[in-house]
Amino acid sequence: MKSQQLRQLLDSLSLDEKIGQLVQLSGEFYQAQNIATGPQKSLGITQNLVDLSGSVLNVTGAEQVKRVQEEHLKKSKHPIPLLFMADIIYGYHTVYPIPLGIGATWDPKLVEEAYHNTADEASASGVDVTFAPMLDLVRDPRWGRVLESTGEDAMLNSHFARAMVNGLQKDLPNGRGLAACIKHFAGYGAAEGGREYNSADISLSNLKQNYLPAYRAAVDAGAKMVMASLSTLNGVPGTGDQWLIDDMLRKQWGFDGVVISDYASIQELVDHGFARDREDAARLAITAGVDIDMKSPCYANGLKQLLNQGRISEEKINQAVWRVLSLKNDLGLFENPFRGASIERESHSILSSDKRAVARKMSQEAIVLLKNEDEVLPLAKQSNKKIAVIGPYSDEADLIGLWAVHADSNDTVTLADGIKEKLNDSYYSISKGTDILRDKKFFDQFGTAEESVKRSISSNEEEIKQRQKSLKNAAKADIIIFACGEHPLQSSEAGSRVLLRLPQNQVDLFNELVELQKPIITIVFSGRPLVLTDLVSKSSALLQAWFPGTEGGHALADILFGDYNPSGRLSMSMPYIEGQLPMHYDHLSTGRSEETSQHNSRFVSRYVDSPSKPLFPFGFGLSYGELVYSKLVMERSQLKLGETVESYVTINNIGNYNRYEVVQIYFHDDVASVAQPVKRLVDFKRVFIKAGETKQVKFSIPINQLGFYDRKGNYQLEPGTFTFFAGSDSMAMLSEQVELIQ
Ligand code: GLC
Repeated sequence: MKSQQLRQLLDSLSLDEKIGQLVQLSGEFYQAQNIATGPQKSLGITQNLVDLSGSVLNVTGAEQVKRVQEEHLKKSKHPIPLLFMADIIYGYHTVYPIPLGIGATWDPKLVEEAYHNTADEASASGVDVTFAPMLDLVRDPRWGRVLESTGEDAMLNSHFARAMVNGLQKDLPNGRGLAACIKHFAGYGAAEGGREYNSADISLSNLKQNYLPAYRAAVDAGAKMVMASLSTLNGVPGTGDQWLIDDMLRKQWGFDGVVISDYASIQELVDHGFARDREDAARLAITAGVDIDMKSPCYANGLKQLLNQGRISEEKINQAVWRVLSLKNDLGLFENPFRGASIERESHSILSSDKRAVARKMSQEAIVLLKNEDEVLPLAKQSNKKIAVIGPYSDEADLIGLWAVHADSNDTVTLADGIKEKLNDSYYSISKGTDILRDKKFFDQFGTAEESVKRSISSNEEEIKQRQKSLKNAAKADIIIFACGEHPLQSSEAGSRVLLRLPQNQVDLFNELVELQKPIITIVFSGRPLVLTDLVSKSSALLQAWFPGTEGGHALADILFGDYNPSGRLSMSMPYIEGQLPMHYDHLSTGRSEETSQHNSRFVSRYVDSPSKPLFPFGFGLSYGELVYSKLVMERSQLKLGETVESYVTINNIGNYNRYEVVQIYFHDDVASVAQPVKRLVDFKRVFIKAGETKQVKFSIPINQLGFYDRKGNYQLEPGTFTFFAGSDSMAMLSEQVELIQ
């Protein structure tokens, strides 16, 4: 519809119709038989506002979406279509590795293709908007939602932010695709203590240097929506933060799209002690620039009163409604309220073989090889060696993590499925050995139904039987593959943990297997970096598989048997022990760096009871074979403002395997008016290099990228020397210096 017509529509709306556009309800309002006594009563809003609400949360499926849309339009005096929004964070029905695994691919191009596929699947199911990508930078794996982040580096996260938004929104002009709603704006990832929903205190320079860039990259890539965070940044809840939303996002960044609250987060402004009551919460949120109230009654019950009391202007409401109507218009909903929804399209698009192929590739690239002693991997497909696959994840289908809410883990390829396709069945055995988790208290805390607990925790007799079967299989085997990990419920939203270990029952089984003194290849399934220190030391090889997604079993088998040379590189540091947390590679040197301080060994920045370094650093990952970084050349040793640092890195593949290598370039601003990180990633290239090949990998880095934000949040670039490092991870040591002159 033309802008003028849209304006006329807005002007023709009653106040209730306008407020309705700013209310988002969830599926039960559209599926339950008697909503009056159910969801409507519990939320406390009128039937009139239910009928006038403008968008729906997590209702998907072409048939269902069409039905709900038709019924809605029939009721409306002014036929304004509903927007269907859903949480589709890392895949719809074809699920990729969790974003922390996607971060380990260092392959934004593949990620764009994958998210384009996801948008094709979900738009066929009638979804218009996805609450993704989640762009919170993370430094503390105690927080369960590190699962949803691509990691600890602002630049790498920004590459993925652009790729995901572009992939999701690419087909919007032809009525497919998904509008991206980036979240959680802003700084939720710095929750103190890694405790869920906890407050975040971030200095302005740190906020601008690390926590905001990925959101900015997504906004610049044209993201259609932003979700305000439910947590506080420096004492102000994101959902009521006028400085962050109206000043920064809208005025400074020029974002003119829709801002939505997080789930009931407007109402929670009262719980924060930031709003006096729900009406006050509505005033604060609409004033801050939040357009849609997700699943709270504040706008529905409060905006009219606030207007009548003169505490908000009708202009404020009109601006919010205009943004919502404009989004619907951009998506073509007035011309076609069903947009991409099509049962026929669904049948061809969902879990198609080409989409599975992309998911398999993503899983291959996400898995990180952390240890490979005596090149025990890859395993030969034709050998007389017997393999015992043991552990709770040996044939587990739930490899998709908790935030794949619309997928079915029965569509997953398990590790056992993958191995069976590679080996003759006389060469392997599969046994669970123990449950993922046997701690009933853990499940009881969520009020998990007894039936479901029984499905998760075997009887003691069954447990003993499983254990004995595994030990018997192990005794007959030459090699053991131990498939272990955390329970999906131990991670993701509301999955914060203080001890990041494997469940004790798995550790006990592992230690019994170690007694057999056979090579153990350990595969870890998790939604975060766990503390693997003991596991690594007793394993011959270790693969970090994350929750690897629908094609996880195929990807793992491809790596185990050499059909894919692992190329994953950590996008988040892995701690030696929890007490080191939070940790990140781009830390400051301090005045008493452990490596360089003149003080004696006691009085330096360290712990007396643990190493200071991570177990595995940001950027780390092994591949099969051997590769050498032989030279880093900076084409000029002096540059002026506005110029570009041209450099190249020479790498030699001296191994016997073709491979991908993620060549990483870091830099340190040697002297600055605000102390700078010992290293900061500034560029990377994922290159394919054949066995025996030598390659020169070229980098062109605009000097302006080397600046930093000072304490007032102003961007600075000061003359002086910059040390550049090239290597295969953030411990890279090949270095050269360049000077920026006036
Ligand atoms: C949740 C999450 C948010 C999600 C929303 C809707 O609480 O914080 O990421 O998109 O509610 O499900």
